[in-house]
Amino acid sequence: MGDGNVIEWKSAYSVGISTIDAQHQELINLTNCLNQACINGTETGRVYFKKVMHELVQYVKFHFSAEEKIMERIGFPGLAEHKKEHEDFVKKVLEGVKNFESGKAIVPNTFVRYLLDWIVTHIAKTDQKYGIFIANNDLKILPEDI
Ligand SMILES: [Fe+2]
Repeated sequence: MGDGNVIEWKSAYSVGISTIDAQHQELINLTNCLNQACINGTETGRVYFKKVMHELVQYVKFHFSAEEKIMERIGFPGLAEHKKEHEDFVKKVLEGVKNFESGKAIVPNTFVRYLLDWIVTHIAKTDQKYGIFIANNDLKILPEDI
């Protein structure tokens, strides 16, 4: 897409918890912003890229810990595996940030493409697993539980 918004949240991505769905939308939104910063290959684009990258790192950590808290609370059997996916992703992202900041020849486009692919696949497949567990066990997650 010309405006750089390459991914959109869909109702099929819902995990049945409105707070988490909203967080997923924000994650997608931030990654789309990063993508726009990539397309804009100027110094302003670079400064903006750095700023959004930091926001994304903070938001990813906040969001992952919210999800992990829910999975712990409901006794989700796939918690360890899910946590590992989160950890690996954070590691990869921090590595990318470090490379970018140290002026290494990272290709922001490739990096953002990786982020987009990971986030969409994770939301569409991995996060669905606890959504299904919640639905199958008739569990209720209240906003104050998050
Ligand atoms: Fe997750």
